[in-house]
Amino acid sequence: MILVTGGTGLVGAHLLYQLAKNDENIRAIYRSSKKIEAVKKVFYNEVNGQSLFDKITWFKADITDVPAMIPAFTDVKKVYHCAAFISFNPKDYREMRKVNIHGTAIIANLAIDAKVDKICFVGSIAAVGNSLYDGFITEESEWNSEDDNSGYSITKFGAEMEIWRASQEGVNVVIVNPGVILGSGFFKTGSGALFSNINNGLQYYTEGITGYVGVNDVVKCMVLLMNSTIKNERFILVSENNSYKEIFSLIAKYLGKKAPKIRVKKWQTAIFWRIALLISKFTKKDPLLTKYTAKSAHTVSKYSSKKIKEALDFQFEEIETVIKKVCISYTNKDS
Ligand SMILES: NC(=O)c1ccc[n+]([C@@H]2O[C@H](COP(=O)([O-])OP(=O)(O)OC[C@H]3O[C@@H](n4cnc5c(N)ncnc54)[C@H](OP(=O)(O)O)[C@@H]3O)[C@@H](O)[C@H]2O)c1
Repeated sequence: MILVTGGTGLVGAHLLYQLAKNDENIRAIYRSSKKIEAVKKVFYNEVNGQSLFDKITWFKADITDVPAMIPAFTDVKKVYHCAAFISFNPKDYREMRKVNIHGTAIIANLAIDAKVDKICFVGSIAAVGNSLYDGFITEESEWNSEDDNSGYSITKFGAEMEIWRASQEGVNVVIVNPGVILGSGFFKTGSGALFSNINNGLQYYTEGITGYVGVNDVVKCMVLLMNSTIKNERFILVSENNSYKEIFSLIAKYLGKKAPKIRVKKWQTAIFWRIALLISKFTKKDPLLTKYTAKSAHTVSKYSSKKIKEALDFQFEEIETVIKKVCISYTNKDS
């Protein structure tokens, strides 16, 4: 039996499809039935989606709730831990610590108790350090806790530590550290919101650079790593390092919209995130921009995926092709 956490999110939904295609016996954690509908949509857009969707056994639990999670581990041999709380809003820091660090500690402990064979944990490039090797950030780049790290980075790093602890206690683990993940089906939040914002006429861009990867490549690497003899290693998953301008322009091109033309400078975002924070205190809504989203908008970080390419002999799909496909699914989403 395979246990998947975060099955109702972007990565989890696409992973479930991949696993169902491979005829695996799958148990997926969910919190609300409404969220399962989004997963159904991802499946139904794919070949044999309906019958493959029916192969999943859904199990209701919050990963931070130990008594609810214990039975989820019955007969489990492999765990894909994708669940996380992603936010750059400072007010969410405590909740992120609870879900990302404490929740992962619970998964690690239950996996140890259940003597599972292997865990695949979805980390993030946000939890990789900044030191460079030949101009690129690699799996060896050292994490510096003295840096001005976002709460999300800190909690993803803390979660990885819990997974390494499980490896010390005898469970085989693999960790993937994807860049910004682009994929279909989840357009209201996270990276999916990029498509909605550009479709709604976003006119601004910044000059930062970061790593991007298609969701299908992420889940393919996860399954390949789990089914390999590779253990106790982490792998950066990035297809290309692109500027926000390049990504926004490609999305605009394939949505048939005008490419954002107004370059926002660093000092302008520095003012804007402070105003956004102030407004959010009055409106009680999430700020449009936070200190850390503003910072990353101007940061140039290039990631190397040499390690995964060599370990699995893997070739990533080009980001332009990924964006083209996601834009087609965005355009068809309401039809
Ligand atoms: N998206 C990216 O660009 C990106 C990039 C790098 C790494 N990652 C990592 O990839 C993983 C998956 O991200 P995603 O993009 O798929 O995120 P997502 O779409 O926001 O999905 C998050 C998933 O975690 C579940 N979850 C959150 N808190 C939970 C809790 N307390 N108990 C049980 N389930 C809980 C959510 O369930 P509900 O549906 O009930 O909310 C959802 O299924 C995360 O670990 C994230 O850090 C994402």
